[in-house]
Amino acid sequence: MFASKEVPVIAPSEKALIPFVSVENMMRLVHHIGIEKVLVELTDAVEEDFRRWEMFDKTPRIASHSREGVIELMPTSDGEIYGFKYVNGHPKNMADGLQTVTAFGLLATVSTGYPVLLTEMTLLTALRTAATSAMAARHLAPRNVRSMAMIGNGAQAEFQALAMKAVLGIQEVRLYDIDAKATAKTARNLANSGLTVTSCTSSQAAIEGAGIITTCTADKQYATILTDNMVGGGVHINAIGGDCPGKTELHRDILLRADTFVEYPPQTRIEGEIQQMDADYPVTELWRVIRGEAQGRRDDRQITLFDSVGFAVEDFSALRYVREKLKGTDFYQEIDIIADPDDPRDLFGMLQRAKD
Ligand SMILES: NC(=O)c1ccc[n+]([C@@H]2O[C@H](COP(=O)([O-])OP(=O)(O)OC[C@H]3O[C@@H](n4cnc5c(N)ncnc54)[C@H](O)[C@@H]3O)[C@@H](O)[C@H]2O)c1
Repeated sequence: MFASKEVPVIAPSEKALIPFVSVENMMRLVHHIGIEKVLVELTDAVEEDFRRWEMFDKTPRIASHSREGVIELMPTSDGEIYGFKYVNGHPKNMADGLQTVTAFGLLATVSTGYPVLLTEMTLLTALRTAATSAMAARHLAPRNVRSMAMIGNGAQAEFQALAMKAVLGIQEVRLYDIDAKATAKTARNLANSGLTVTSCTSSQAAIEGAGIITTCTADKQYATILTDNMVGGGVHINAIGGDCPGKTELHRDILLRADTFVEYPPQTRIEGEIQQMDADYPVTELWRVIRGEAQGRRDDRQITLFDSVGFAVEDFSALRYVREKLKGTDFYQEIDIIADPDDPRDLFGMLQRAKD
């Protein structure tokens, strides 16, 4: 709280305070636990929530599009806890020294509507996106996969590689980005990760021998990162970057050969790779595979595609994971974002506390 000669100190009550996790504290929390452990635990947390899919309120995210990018709200609730994330996607930001994706999020108790956590989610989004990719891959990727191609070496890249290492045991990551500086950055960051890092000069070279192909590029347009002739049988494609109307990464012919798995079809049909396909293009919901109600990988020639767009339930899982992990730590500050009048009806009276 601020204090000065003019303004009295106004101590909020317990009811006014909620934990706030700043970017700095999120960084400390991740290192305290260990990043690979966080990725493994988050993968399990997301999978746990996908198993109880019916319990969640679901809606395609609410998007506000502009020429430069998109700002989105992603709400959901399991009936006890409500959560939402604010997130943007602005591919041109990078040229101005800003990030493509930034986010923050909140959890609240459904019974009172009172918030119980406010946190940065830029780092948490990278972690949860990587965890969701790993969750999908452990149900869909070829058995004993050891090598992953990582096309697009931006902010998400290292998180994706480490999650596939920690959860699936991949040993090699093959990098490619149109900007060699991005590849050099990712190679540097992964140098001591235990992964064999191979920097490549084309997508074609990057996917050589890779059982998982992750595409994670940012461009506000239909792009063709992979064409049909590049993709052999038996691979798993983890397509992250196509997540907005008009923004895709794969040639549609790949989708004609692949079995496609999605988070929430009404959102993915708007935003995912499948926006290129007819409305009746068949997809399988990932939660059904996780529950054993639908088949994942059928055989070693099948091309599986996780058409990832990012769904609110994954953010909910990440938020509840952070809330749990904060217990007994000091990786948060308490902030008073709830007004707490002595008499609930006397909000005006509370305002007078700060009067000279
Ligand atoms: N599915 C999800 O849940 C989810 C979550 C987070 C981010 N995303 C999306 O993932 C993408 C990547 O996010 P980021 O934060 O890493 O962005 P970023 O801007 O940090 O990195 C993107 C990288 O892609 C590279 N790139 C662009 N076009 C390319 C091409 N044709 N071939 C190879 N590389 C190319 C750029 O040079 C850049 O290094 C974005 O489109 C973002 O919207 C999806």
